[in-house]
Amino acid sequence: MQHFTLVNHPLVQHKLTKMREKTRSTAEFRQLLREISHLLAYEVTRDLPMTTTPIETPMEAMEAPVLEGKKLALISILRAGNGLLDGVLELIPSARVGFVGLYRDEETLQPVQYYFKVPKEMSERVVIAVDPMLATGNSSVAAIDLLKESGAKDIRFMCLLAAPEGVARMKEAHPDVPIISAALDRQLSDIGYILPGLGDAGDRMFGTK
Ligand code: URA
Repeated sequence: MQHFTLVNHPLVQHKLTKMREKTRSTAEFRQLLREISHLLAYEVTRDLPMTTTPIETPMEAMEAPVLEGKKLALISILRAGNGLLDGVLELIPSARVGFVGLYRDEETLQPVQYYFKVPKEMSERVVIAVDPMLATGNSSVAAIDLLKESGAKDIRFMCLLAAPEGVARMKEAHPDVPIISAALDRQLSDIGYILPGLGDAGDRMFGTK
């Protein structure tokens, strides 16, 4: 997989435009995020290893393709990651789930860890970390650092919007972690928000502002 993949499918782009609009309600925002997360999950799992299994159709026996069964872990970077997590879990219901709690110190823009709980055997899993906003990249880099410390080797990062600054920061710190995003926006604001962006993803999905 290349380091940065832009999912510019028409359905993704249409839904994302609706999400960006400031008049969108919390319920609509969450629903759109869920729908986009299915489409992003399709892309992020595109290269999962496959094998075959013998089955019988009503017509005849065949060797049919199935996932090789390498264990998957979905990691939500709290709290906004939960908005993407639900949709991905609908597609991969047997995946194990972990959480990394980081908040952003609004003065330094540096991540502060408050929670970390991930499944066992991280080194054997395909790990999909989800966070809608790749802004400065500070919290994403910190979350991936923690996942690697827990043993994870095969990590992908799935987001909705990325800023060029965040992509560059991730590439520098974690060149082995591919990023799958629905958009690459113009830049960061002076307080670290993505422009044109969609505002605070957590506030918009949970109605906390
Ligand atoms: N986090 C958000 O929710 N929005 C941004 O624009 C940047 C970080």
